[in-house]
Amino acid sequence: MFIMTKTVTEILNTKYPLIQGPMAWLTDAKLVAAVCNAGGLGVLGTNAGQNTVTRDATENAERLRHQIHKVKKLTDKDFGVNILTASPDEKIDDDPFMKGFLDVAFEEHLKYYVVVGAPNEAVFQAIKAHDGIIIFRPMTPTIATMVQAEALGADILVATGRDEGGILPAQEYGTFTVVPTMVDAVSIPVLAAGGINDKRGVNAALALGAQGVFIGTRFLATKEAPTAENVKELMIKSTYHDLTQVSASQRSLKTGAAQKLAQDYQQNHDGPKMDEAINALGGLLPAMVKGDVNAGIITSNTGIDLIRDIPTVAELIDRLMVDYKN
Ligand SMILES: Cc1cc2nc3c(=O)[nH]c(=O)nc-3n(C[C@H](O)[C@H](O)[C@H](O)COP(=O)(O)O)c2cc1C
Repeated sequence: MFIMTKTVTEILNTKYPLIQGPMAWLTDAKLVAAVCNAGGLGVLGTNAGQNTVTRDATENAERLRHQIHKVKKLTDKDFGVNILTASPDEKIDDDPFMKGFLDVAFEEHLKYYVVVGAPNEAVFQAIKAHDGIIIFRPMTPTIATMVQAEALGADILVATGRDEGGILPAQEYGTFTVVPTMVDAVSIPVLAAGGINDKRGVNAALALGAQGVFIGTRFLATKEAPTAENVKELMIKSTYHDLTQVSASQRSLKTGAAQKLAQDYQQNHDGPKMDEAINALGGLLPAMVKGDVNAGIITSNTGIDLIRDIPTVAELIDRLMVDYKN
């Protein structure tokens, strides 16, 4: 039997099969709206538009609502929100931060949910009950997780290679091998993530069987991104050899703080301890948002040599997608 499946652009209602990956602190309303207006799907991340930490779940959710209202003023297109799921069977009520995000997104009638972490049935069901579209990205892609997410009703899956920026998958799988492997395992569209910084990356992802791309790091060095201006300038001058592993799951440009973390990590190989130390410094906030470069880490994918300028989001997306034919 021939099954009509929708293409990614049909599911996303976009010009291009491109999603801007949510990035904690760094994907605010201005960036998200610019991505939507340029033909991709923009996605608000956690702490979007903020430069202070809140430990209050209600305040966290209301901050999200404020950003949602801002995006709506800047674009008439749909956009997405990042939902982080810690485990497959965690109940929504057990995580007030996740619940707050979901409630606000439902109240604001958001259509797109980038669920990252575990395929949690309760979360998937809640999103489906609100007619939401689920883009699911396991932190560590495995065939079993992808198959499970498809069975639970995901609309699009994202296969992430260890080339990516942010929190790295807990395996050595690179984008070039993980993408075709996951494409073969499921029948819904798979997007490629990890190290895609120019049109060659996009074309390669499509050649590997991905039906689109999911891009984070490259958007950090755009005019609209809330990344500190000195960090954008530093990124476009940096090379792969300026990166160092600061925990089992995070790499950073060699800032003052990163070099100390890297030294400790090399001596003690205690990944969780290093992740705690990074959190204690404020995660991505001090260096990447506030521009106090030596006070924190600056995460990037492995392809930083390919990032050499600071275009507008529209210029970047046109360049990335120049060879794409619908
Ligand atoms: C600075 C930074 C912060 C990120 N924060 C998040 C996050 O909060 N939630 C999430 O689901 N993914 C996060 N990611 C991952 C991105 O959504 C995306 O999967 C990844 O950037 C794709 O790989 P690339 O960076 O090589 O393009 C982050 C990535 C970066 C670079």
